[in-house]
Amino acid sequence: MIDIQKSPKSKIENTNFDNLVFGKVFTDHMMECDYIDGEWQKPVIKPYGPLTLDPSARVFHYGQAVFEGMKAYKDKDDRIWLFRPDENFKRINRSGKRLAIPEFPKEYFFNSLEELLKLDKDWIKKGFGNSLYIRPFVIATEAGVSASASGEYKFMIICSPAQAYYSGEVRVKFSEKFSRAADGGVGYAKAAGNYGAQFYPTNLAKEEGFQQIIWTDANTHEYLEEAGTMNIFFRIGDKLITAPTNDRILDGVTRKSVITLAEEYNIDLEVRRVSVKEIVEAAEKGELKEMFGSGTATVINPIVGFGHKGKKFELPKMEDSYASFFKDKLMKIQYNEAEDKFGWRYEVK
Ligand SMILES: Cc1ncc(COP(=O)(O)O)c(C=O)c1O
Repeated sequence: MIDIQKSPKSKIENTNFDNLVFGKVFTDHMMECDYIDGEWQKPVIKPYGPLTLDPSARVFHYGQAVFEGMKAYKDKDDRIWLFRPDENFKRINRSGKRLAIPEFPKEYFFNSLEELLKLDKDWIKKGFGNSLYIRPFVIATEAGVSASASGEYKFMIICSPAQAYYSGEVRVKFSEKFSRAADGGVGYAKAAGNYGAQFYPTNLAKEEGFQQIIWTDANTHEYLEEAGTMNIFFRIGDKLITAPTNDRILDGVTRKSVITLAEEYNIDLEVRRVSVKEIVEAAEKGELKEMFGSGTATVINPIVGFGHKGKKFELPKMEDSYASFFKDKLMKIQYNEAEDKFGWRYEVK
């Protein structure tokens, strides 16, 4: 069902796994599947390399593109695991639908992903925190600059080894002016343009000493929604709060998993709108104990401070943080070191 063309030579010998920059190095193979004449053709796994596309291909002009981010993990016995891959598969089709991209078949996705991982399995290093970042994506390839949905697409999967990394101290700015997404828009989709549009405001925030922006609702900028590549949790006292997903927010797999674990471990959790006002007030009273982001790249990313309307707030250092609790619980499931009560692990064999 899948055409496999093996790379004659591996690049792995030339890769320094002790010094990986996230997303810079790619494995020996990639998956490519074309949509032509109203149908997805047979997926092909071939040596990783550049593409040749017509300069008028729709993706370059209208940004008709969606992607996913997931990881493969290797346990102590060299078994390879994915974490809730079905969620990523469903989400790329959900994103694609919003961008008028035809649905990709489930068996193509899973069969080609598994073959690709088996072929490039030496690139998945053991050790807590090491993983292989998997980037499935779809681009509109039909030539011609007419502003309408493409009739041709390319679905691809590329993989990049990732190291356990410390992302440094993260301070965020609550957005006051710019918006990431609007009602009825594409915020809930992993559409390429959602990310391209964040770079400029994020660069401005960086100049003010923040690493990321927490996006607020586009209408009022009064409610906190999510970060650039993470969903956001707040801890006031011992209560954990996160915003509900809607058509502006990405339905993160990690977020969903944190919510399930919070219920499992009887952590007081509220899924409701979170106002800037209550977070600022809680911080002023010393009741805001934690903020953290959740996402595939760093699992759980503690946030040490935030800025709003020219004021900067620092959060206390926590010994028993929810952030480290959830990170540990999630990673132990991902690396096959804990019971998988919810059936989240998926073995590649
Ligand atoms: C905008 C946005 N929010 C949240 C997330 C976290 O989602 P997940 O936990 O599925 O990685 C991501 C990353 O995928 C993202 O790009």
